[in-house]
Amino acid sequence: MNNPQSKQRSLRLVGGKAEIFSGRLFCGYHPGKSARTVKEVLEKSASFLRERRIENPRLNAEILLGYVLGKSHSHLCLESHPLLSFSQLTKFRRLVIKRSRHQSLSYLIGRQNFMNLSFLVNSKVYIPRPETEILVEEVLKWLRESLLETQTGRRVTIIDLGTGCGNIAISLATELPEAIVYAVDISSEALKVAASNAELHHLKDRIVFLKGDLFRPLEGMSLTGRVDAIVSNPPYVARDEMGSLPPEVRKEPEIALDGGKEGLEFYQRIISLTSQFLKRGGLLTLEIGYKQLQKVKDMIACQEDMQPPRIVKDYQGIERIVLSKKKMAGEG
Ligand SMILES: C[S@@+](CC[C@H](N)C(=O)[O-])C[C@H]1O[C@@H](n2cnc3c(N)ncnc32)[C@H](O)[C@@H]1O
Repeated sequence: MNNPQSKQRSLRLVGGKAEIFSGRLFCGYHPGKSARTVKEVLEKSASFLRERRIENPRLNAEILLGYVLGKSHSHLCLESHPLLSFSQLTKFRRLVIKRSRHQSLSYLIGRQNFMNLSFLVNSKVYIPRPETEILVEEVLKWLRESLLETQTGRRVTIIDLGTGCGNIAISLATELPEAIVYAVDISSEALKVAASNAELHHLKDRIVFLKGDLFRPLEGMSLTGRVDAIVSNPPYVARDEMGSLPPEVRKEPEIALDGGKEGLEFYQRIISLTSQFLKRGGLLTLEIGYKQLQKVKDMIACQEDMQPPRIVKDYQGIERIVLSKKKMAGEG
């Protein structure tokens, strides 16, 4: 078996440029065998990724190369960049091979953008999705229109259940300087990443991270009836659909995806405890999966003090975000 490590070492010892590019470096992958300019390397890697059915192969190659060179992919100078060094090429090739095996781009570069902010991610956390930005935007709109316009400077209390890398909690806290967010996750590995992200965005003092099962770590924190908004993008994949997820998604933590038998387990548990924590007039906002709307609506309808929900569709026209307010006193 070819050992990439020892191969690399011996090539380095041989030293000369000709030798550097002559070996079977990694698993027989040769997209950049003789390539050394940015342009050549990108062309060869893109065609390698295309052959392996990776979507947007050129963009993937550009982002990976940008990562290796410490630049944004849009700032890669195809013509004028100096030749790539051996170590840059080696690092890049390894990443391209991993990508060809359906490792997510975000895990490879360790970052994902969300709401125009950059978040650290690793394979222990769910990768934030663009649809979830709709949830954040809706909550922001509602909080600004209903609370902050009339009561400037008022403290806003938010709960984020299943915070993952902290993307929802941190985006809300960034946009709302008056907010305190309680961000819960059952995974200590996710909470570690979330805490690093809060530090990165200088929000450690306004986000309280708690480890545990949904509302459980919030019990005894005097939050009963005091919360303005509860948000959650819980695991919502039906258990028997887990095996048919795309290969990239299957590499994300199972605990972030598995929503129980029909994918609805978390909605039932969240909705049944929501009104205990929300203030009157407070808002519950949930991201839901394809074809889950009716059952989630039925669950909300069983809660006497929650209003019928408003629904927001995602960019593909799928009903994605459910917003329901807790009724005011005396409201029918
Ligand atoms: C779909 S991910 C959402 C992550 C992030 N909030 C987002 O929207 O991108 C669901 C998250 O719920 C967490 N989770 C799973 N079961 C949980 C439970 N019983 N209590 C709290 N969090 C849980 C997972 O660890 C994961 O981080």
